[in-house]
Amino acid sequence: MDSHIQSRLNLYVRSLENASSLEDLLKIHIEIFGKKGYFAHLFQTLAQESDMEKKKTMGAFFNTEKQKLEHVFSKRQDEFLQTKQDVVGDVTVPGIGPKLGSMHIVTSAIEEIRRIYSRIGFYQYSYPEVEWEYFSFEALNMPADHPARDDFETFFVDGPVSKKYGRMVLTPHTSNGQVREMLRLGKPPIRMINIARCYRPNWDVTHVPMMHQFEGLCVDKGISIQHLKGTMSYFAREFFGYDVKTRLRPHNFEFTEPSFEVDISCIHCNGTGITKEGKCRICKSGWLELGGSGLVHPNVLKAGGIDSSVYSGWAFGFGIERVAMIKYQIDDIRKLYSGELRYVLES
Ligand code: PHE
Repeated sequence: MDSHIQSRLNLYVRSLENASSLEDLLKIHIEIFGKKGYFAHLFQTLAQESDMEKKKTMGAFFNTEKQKLEHVFSKRQDEFLQTKQDVVGDVTVPGIGPKLGSMHIVTSAIEEIRRIYSRIGFYQYSYPEVEWEYFSFEALNMPADHPARDDFETFFVDGPVSKKYGRMVLTPHTSNGQVREMLRLGKPPIRMINIARCYRPNWDVTHVPMMHQFEGLCVDKGISIQHLKGTMSYFAREFFGYDVKTRLRPHNFEFTEPSFEVDISCIHCNGTGITKEGKCRICKSGWLELGGSGLVHPNVLKAGGIDSSVYSGWAFGFGIERVAMIKYQIDDIRKLYSGELRYVLES
């Protein structure tokens, strides 16, 4: 083998090994492997070689040498890149703060709702999630076989059946707390807020099988629809913003009479039903439905041991996920439980 070529190749090995910076290393790389580099020159000369045997051995030799040099090069390159990364770990480099975690949207809505109601004298109380059919239905004026039960599709629990209270269920709404609270206190006044998990076998854009509701119950002498309306407006303004309007729309629940759906003016289009892009995507009509409410039915007061000729009351029950989705304009309830970090990181 041409000793001149060999010593030139050795020289390149040494220069690669001694390169003092990444830039230096890349320059040498071009000298060796570039279009006009040493190997390009060697292969060009080889192409003119007429002795086929010699051409073959020379070609093989060049290729192995080329590989060796490439190996030396990439080892050195790795070393330089490695030291570059080390610089990032330099304690004098200004740091990047880690993202802070924060409360999940549902948790922070629960906190906010609790605060809003505590300011007007409501205390929070919790009841069993695994509940007797009686408190979820019968006590609420919905005897077995009542068609209204279909509105509250229910998970039943395998467990003992009580003669008095029926089967065990995962409570499908927070209204189970109404009669329980009346019995617990013995007599009015009642100003209770019950925030709990509820279960229904549904799974789509607006339903998940486990969701949260908050229920208000107010029983005292002389309680009327005006108090209900006033409390609903107070909540809506505190939670959604001061310019939000509230309306009660006639509806039907077995446990309230009269019954209403509570609507708020759409916070997206300011209750107009129209946005710059055309018809409001969120509400379509200017109003958004929050949930059910009404004056407590005399039969429910009776089940709670309260004399309906002396006392009256109102109740409402709203979904926490629903009010949170309206407030934060989230279009699919399942996103709340997707574990997506946007919902638990401060931005
Ligand atoms: N429990 C009802 C529901 O889940 C809401 C409601 C509560 C209605 C209290 C009236 C009074 O839909």
